[in-house]
Amino acid sequence: MYRVELRNISKKFGGIAALKDVTFKVLHGEIHALAGENGAGKSTLVKILSGAHTKDSGQIFIDGSEALIRNTQDSKKLGIGIIYQEFSLVPELSVAENIFLNQLGTGFLVRWNKMKIKAEELINSIGFDINPSLRVRDLSIAQQQVVEIAKALSEKVRILILDEPSAVLGTREVQKLFDTLTKLKKDGVAVIYISHHIDEIFQIADRITVLKDGSTAGSLLASETDKKSVIKMMLGRSLDTMYPSHNTFSGKEILSIENVSDGEKVNGVSFKLKEGEILGIAGLVGSGRTELARALFAADKIKTGRIFLAGKEFRQRSPGKTVRAGIGMVPEDRKQHGVILPLTIKENISLTNYKSISDVFGFIKTKKERENTIELIRKLSIKAEGENQETLKLSGGNQQKVALAKWLNRDCRVLIIDEPTRGIDVGSKVEIYDLIFELSKKGVALIVISSETQELTGICDRILVMRKGKIKSELTRKEFSEEEILRLSILD
Ligand SMILES: Nc1ncnc2c1ncn2[C@@H]1O[C@H](COP(=O)(O)OP(=O)(O)OP(=O)(O)O)[C@@H](O)[C@H]1O
Ligand SMILES: [Mg+2]
Repeated sequence: MYRVELRNISKKFGGIAALKDVTFKVLHGEIHALAGENGAGKSTLVKILSGAHTKDSGQIFIDGSEALIRNTQDSKKLGIGIIYQEFSLVPELSVAENIFLNQLGTGFLVRWNKMKIKAEELINSIGFDINPSLRVRDLSIAQQQVVEIAKALSEKVRILILDEPSAVLGTREVQKLFDTLTKLKKDGVAVIYISHHIDEIFQIADRITVLKDGSTAGSLLASETDKKSVIKMMLGRSLDTMYPSHNTFSGKEILSIENVSDGEKVNGVSFKLKEGEILGIAGLVGSGRTELARALFAADKIKTGRIFLAGKEFRQRSPGKTVRAGIGMVPEDRKQHGVILPLTIKENISLTNYKSISDVFGFIKTKKERENTIELIRKLSIKAEGENQETLKLSGGNQQKVALAKWLNRDCRVLIIDEPTRGIDVGSKVEIYDLIFELSKKGVALIVISSETQELTGICDRILVMRKGKIKSELTRKEFSEEEILRLSILD
């Protein structure tokens, strides 16, 4: 008997079919990966199980009996826990309040102290350490994700769904998460795990189901298939080169950072960057990579140090001035800061670019705006009905692509990209690398921050490894090795 059995599930949004007759079966004590391109229907499928969406047709069976899931309460009663792809915590509340949010009014846990202790125990039991009294808005996004996991486990679950849980976690955190999942599996919990990291899927999953364009493309035992076959099933073609080769081009020095500190996470960082160069920044979550990017972009103030742009010291900075000076940034936290969800794709993409598409009178040349957007939708294969679709209605990965497109559409001299391919499917990753190379060829200097070491060694000309707010080491292309980068990130 299956713990979860979905039979012939269909779901339309407007006229568009997101799911077509999907059948999906998960055993108890099984970790079942759900894979597929951006927009394939993965989140829609699990949201039908969590009660966030209702199915148009089909049947759901839990432990053999047909289940009626009309809303999230129904789903919870059935023992279904979910960690959504999008942010679901309340930033103003504490860690403990967020974890027990659903149980707050029930009479249980009315005492703050008791709740704090319980929250701490729960966080420790999954291998982490976060002060339960802190406000969620003051946590790093990796820590926020840990809170999401603890929240999902605060009630007893029979079925646990994780939609891209590892996207914001570093290698070590992912390992801890896997330990937790393995424990749950031993207790008979059915785990549904959505991820674009094929390596991870093969590390943790017993079975893999691939969705393609809203239909089931196949369901295989992990032990009986391999990465190549799964990728082929996802994309409908095989993927030979993940990292297309590019010629290193570098011109004049464009940026020079001297001894920059933010008084907290960034501690005396210096480096130089040339036009057309692709500079990678590696390091563990918490090593100061994101804070360095924020300091460069003037999103956070710097305490000491100097920044030179094309030889001239850049003082009195603000994010607005930074943008006008030709420095762009795609932030790490795209769930919250990357795109404006109620706006259309076109509005989001052209938001940063009013200058180049406006005529002398300041009117937006709508034709040019439209052409630009269509071109970017095509280049990044953003799955949408058209440029006027609300970003809100796109799949998670496609929203990420819009956040990227927004900056790729602008003429920058320096572009900082924090986690360029987070949440993006393997096929589209290659397209993003191509676009990065295209920019580099045009002379744009790129700073790429990534937790995926393979990605950095694949696309960068040079890599800086950060450790505890300092640049620990600098590697040139000849010296690249994933083991070395990991070693430098961990060792003091
Ligand atoms: N609320 C919505 N309104 C309209 N269309 C939607 C909505 N949610 C999803 N869709 C559409 O349904 C399709 C499937 O989206 P879904 O979010 O399930 O994809 P996904 O497989 O989770 O992709 P990703 O890997 O990017 O997260 C997409 O074409 C998307 O645009
Ligand atoms: Mg999704």
